[in-house]
Amino acid sequence: MKIGLIIAIDGTAASGKGTISKKIAQNYSVPHLDTGLLYRLVGYKVLQGVDPVSAASQLRADELKVLDLKTLRVSNAASEVAKNPAVRAHLLEFQRDFASKPGGAVLDGRDIGTVICPNAHIKFFITASPDIRAQRRYKELLGLGHSISFENVLREIQERDERDSNRKQSPMVPAVDAIKIDTSDMTINEVYESVSKIIDSKLEN
Ligand code: C5P
Repeated sequence: MKIGLIIAIDGTAASGKGTISKKIAQNYSVPHLDTGLLYRLVGYKVLQGVDPVSAASQLRADELKVLDLKTLRVSNAASEVAKNPAVRAHLLEFQRDFASKPGGAVLDGRDIGTVICPNAHIKFFITASPDIRAQRRYKELLGLGHSISFENVLREIQERDERDSNRKQSPMVPAVDAIKIDTSDMTINEVYESVSKIIDSKLEN
Protein backbone atom coordinates (compact mmCIF):
# COMPACT_ATOMS: atom_id res chain seq x y z
CA MET A 1 0.00 0.00 0.00
CA LYS A 2 1.35 3.45 -0.90
CA ILE A 3 0.08 5.88 1.71
CA GLY A 4 1.40 9.02 0.00
CA LEU A 5 1.67 10.87 3.29
CA ILE A 6 4.60 12.85 4.59
CA ILE A 7 4.89 12.24 8.30
CA ALA A 8 7.15 14.51 10.36
CA ILE A 9 8.30 13.18 13.71
CA ASP A 10 10.25 15.67 15.76
CA GLY A 11 11.27 15.44 19.36
CA THR A 12 13.94 15.37 22.00
CA ALA A 13 16.97 13.06 22.10
CA ALA A 14 16.11 9.47 23.06
CA SER A 15 12.38 10.19 23.25
CA GLY A 16 11.49 7.08 21.24
CA LYS A 17 10.88 9.00 18.00
CA GLY A 18 13.33 6.82 16.07
CA THR A 19 11.69 3.57 17.15
CA ILE A 20 8.23 4.92 16.35
CA SER A 21 9.39 6.15 12.94
CA LYS A 22 10.86 2.75 12.09
CA LYS A 23 7.63 1.01 13.07
CA ILE A 24 5.59 3.40 10.91
CA ALA A 25 7.96 2.83 7.99
CA GLN A 26 7.64 -0.93 8.36
CA ASN A 27 3.90 -1.14 8.87
CA TYR A 28 2.86 1.44 6.28
CA SER A 29 5.67 0.61 3.80
CA VAL A 30 7.03 4.14 3.56
CA PRO A 31 10.70 5.08 3.33
CA HIS A 32 12.19 6.43 6.55
CA LEU A 33 14.98 8.94 7.06
CA ASP A 34 16.55 9.32 10.49
CA THR A 35 17.79 12.88 9.91
CA GLY A 36 19.85 12.81 13.12
CA LEU A 37 22.18 10.42 11.29
CA LEU A 38 23.04 13.16 8.78
CA TYR A 39 24.21 15.46 11.57
CA ARG A 40 25.94 12.54 13.26
CA LEU A 41 27.85 11.73 10.10
CA VAL A 42 28.98 15.35 9.76
CA GLY A 43 29.94 15.36 13.46
CA TYR A 44 31.85 12.11 12.99
CA LYS A 45 33.83 13.61 10.10
CA VAL A 46 34.57 16.76 12.08
CA LEU A 47 36.05 14.59 14.84
CA GLN A 48 38.32 13.17 12.14
CA GLY A 49 39.47 16.69 11.23
CA VAL A 50 37.21 17.37 8.22
CA ASP A 51 35.70 20.84 7.80
CA PRO A 52 31.98 20.71 8.77
CA VAL A 53 30.68 22.52 5.70
CA SER A 54 32.63 20.38 3.25
CA ALA A 55 31.55 17.24 5.13
CA ALA A 56 27.90 18.34 4.80
CA SER A 57 28.26 19.26 1.13
CA GLN A 58 29.81 15.90 0.24
CA LEU A 59 27.43 13.75 2.24
CA ARG A 60 26.88 10.30 0.79
CA ALA A 61 23.90 8.18 1.78
CA ASP A 62 25.98 4.98 1.87
CA GLU A 63 28.19 6.52 4.54
CA LEU A 64 25.25 6.72 6.94
CA LYS A 65 25.88 3.08 7.64
CA VAL A 66 29.25 3.91 9.19
CA LEU A 67 29.42 2.19 12.54
CA ASP A 68 29.61 4.00 15.87
CA LEU A 69 27.56 7.05 14.87
CA LYS A 70 25.66 6.45 18.12
CA THR A 71 28.46 7.20 20.59
CA LEU A 72 28.11 10.09 23.06
CA ARG A 73 31.12 11.79 21.44
CA VAL A 74 29.44 11.74 18.06
CA SER A 75 26.08 12.85 19.56
CA ASN A 76 27.79 15.89 21.00
CA ALA A 77 29.71 16.66 17.83
CA ALA A 78 26.43 16.32 15.88
CA SER A 79 24.63 18.89 18.00
CA GLU A 80 27.62 21.25 17.72
CA VAL A 81 27.68 21.09 13.90
CA ALA A 82 23.87 21.39 13.89
CA LYS A 83 24.24 25.03 15.01
CA ASN A 84 26.04 25.88 11.77
CA PRO A 85 23.64 27.46 9.21
CA ALA A 86 25.80 26.40 6.22
CA VAL A 87 25.78 22.77 7.40
CA ARG A 88 22.00 22.89 7.83
CA ALA A 89 21.55 24.41 4.37
CA HIS A 90 23.44 21.53 2.72
CA LEU A 91 21.53 18.90 4.67
CA LEU A 92 18.18 20.56 3.96
CA GLU A 93 18.40 19.69 0.29
CA PHE A 94 19.14 16.03 1.00
CA GLN A 95 16.16 15.81 3.35
CA ARG A 96 13.71 17.58 1.02
CA ASP A 97 14.74 15.28 -1.84
CA PHE A 98 14.02 12.31 0.36
CA ALA A 99 10.63 13.70 1.39
CA SER A 100 9.57 14.34 -2.18
CA LYS A 101 9.16 10.66 -3.00
CA PRO A 102 5.71 10.03 -4.51
CA GLY A 103 4.73 7.24 -2.11
CA GLY A 104 5.25 9.40 0.98
CA ALA A 105 7.93 9.31 3.63
CA VAL A 106 8.52 9.46 7.35
CA LEU A 107 11.34 11.69 8.60
CA ASP A 108 12.39 12.07 12.19
CA GLY A 109 14.50 14.88 13.64
CA ARG A 110 14.20 18.28 15.28
CA ASP A 111 12.98 20.64 12.56
CA ILE A 112 11.07 18.42 10.17
CA GLY A 113 7.63 19.87 10.86
CA THR A 114 8.89 23.44 11.16
CA VAL A 115 11.55 23.81 8.42
CA ILE A 116 12.14 20.72 6.28
CA CYS A 117 8.53 19.71 5.60
CA PRO A 118 6.30 22.51 6.90
CA ASN A 119 3.50 21.09 4.74
CA ALA A 120 3.78 17.54 6.11
CA HIS A 121 0.39 15.80 6.30
CA ILE A 122 0.91 14.76 9.93
CA LYS A 123 3.31 16.17 12.49
CA PHE A 124 4.22 14.70 15.83
CA PHE A 125 6.43 16.04 18.59
CA ILE A 126 7.60 13.30 20.90
CA THR A 127 9.27 13.80 24.23
CA ALA A 128 9.72 12.33 27.72
CA SER A 129 11.38 13.45 30.93
CA PRO A 130 15.20 13.72 30.78
CA ASP A 131 15.56 10.96 33.38
CA ILE A 132 13.43 8.47 31.48
CA ARG A 133 15.17 9.28 28.21
CA ALA A 134 18.58 8.86 29.81
CA GLN A 135 17.54 5.47 31.20
CA ARG A 136 16.41 4.33 27.76
CA ARG A 137 19.55 5.59 26.01
CA TYR A 138 21.77 4.11 28.74
CA LYS A 139 20.23 0.65 28.22
CA GLU A 140 20.52 0.99 24.46
CA LEU A 141 24.20 1.97 24.63
CA LEU A 142 24.99 -0.82 27.08
CA GLY A 143 23.28 -3.23 24.69
CA LEU A 144 25.53 -1.97 21.90
CA GLY A 145 28.56 -2.77 24.05
CA HIS A 146 29.50 0.81 25.01
CA SER A 147 30.97 1.31 28.45
CA ILE A 148 29.39 4.46 29.89
CA SER A 149 27.83 5.71 33.10
CA PHE A 150 24.20 6.69 33.55
CA GLU A 151 25.28 10.13 34.83
CA ASN A 152 27.21 10.84 31.64
CA VAL A 153 24.27 9.83 29.48
CA LEU A 154 21.90 12.07 31.46
CA ARG A 155 24.30 15.02 31.31
CA GLU A 156 24.80 14.59 27.58
CA ILE A 157 21.04 14.50 26.96
CA GLN A 158 20.48 17.65 29.02
CA GLU A 159 23.30 19.49 27.27
CA ARG A 160 21.96 18.51 23.88
CA ASP A 161 18.38 19.55 24.79
CA GLU A 162 19.74 22.92 25.84
CA ARG A 163 21.84 23.40 22.70
CA ASP A 164 19.16 22.12 20.30
CA SER A 165 16.40 24.28 21.82
CA ASN A 166 18.40 27.46 22.08
CA ARG A 167 20.29 27.63 18.79
CA LYS A 168 19.36 30.46 16.43
CA GLN A 169 19.01 28.31 13.33
CA SER A 170 16.04 25.90 13.21
CA PRO A 171 15.79 25.33 16.96
CA MET A 172 13.98 22.29 18.30
CA VAL A 173 10.42 23.52 18.87
CA PRO A 174 7.13 21.76 18.22
CA ALA A 175 5.42 23.00 15.05
CA VAL A 176 2.21 24.86 15.95
CA ASP A 177 0.19 22.09 14.29
CA ALA A 178 2.18 19.18 15.78
CA ILE A 179 0.49 16.55 17.93
CA LYS A 180 2.52 16.39 21.14
CA ILE A 181 3.07 13.09 22.91
CA ASP A 182 4.85 12.69 26.24
CA THR A 183 6.06 9.10 26.34
CA SER A 184 7.38 9.14 29.93
CA ASP A 185 4.69 6.80 31.21
CA MET A 186 4.00 4.91 28.00
CA THR A 187 5.43 1.78 26.45
CA ILE A 188 6.61 1.93 22.86
CA ASN A 189 3.58 -0.16 21.87
CA GLU A 190 1.22 2.32 23.52
CA VAL A 191 2.90 5.21 21.75
CA TYR A 192 2.74 3.39 18.44
CA GLU A 193 -0.92 2.57 18.95
CA SER A 194 -1.87 6.21 19.46
CA VAL A 195 0.29 7.37 16.56
CA SER A 196 -1.09 4.75 14.17
CA LYS A 197 -4.70 5.65 15.10
CA ILE A 198 -3.98 9.21 14.04
CA ILE A 199 -2.38 8.06 10.76
CA ASP A 200 -5.29 5.70 10.05
CA SER A 201 -7.85 8.40 10.63
CA LYS A 202 -5.93 10.72 8.31
CA LEU A 203 -5.89 8.00 5.66
CA GLU A 204 -9.66 7.51 5.97
CA ASN A 205 -10.40 11.19 5.41
O1 C5P B 1 18.18 12.52 16.52
P1 C5P B 1 19.61 12.42 17.01
O2 C5P B 1 19.71 12.41 18.50
O3 C5P B 1 20.36 11.30 16.36
O4 C5P B 1 20.30 13.78 16.48
C1 C5P B 1 21.64 14.13 16.77
C2 C5P B 1 21.77 15.64 16.78
O5 C5P B 1 21.59 16.13 15.44
C3 C5P B 1 20.72 16.38 17.60
O6 C5P B 1 21.09 16.54 18.95
C4 C5P B 1 20.60 17.72 16.88
O7 C5P B 1 21.59 18.64 17.32
C5 C5P B 1 20.91 17.38 15.44
N1 C5P B 1 19.72 17.33 14.60
C6 C5P B 1 19.19 18.51 14.14
N2 C5P B 1 18.12 18.50 13.29
C7 C5P B 1 17.57 17.34 12.91
C8 C5P B 1 18.07 16.11 13.39
C9 C5P B 1 19.14 16.15 14.28
O8 C5P B 1 19.66 19.59 14.48
N3 C5P B 1 16.55 17.35 12.05
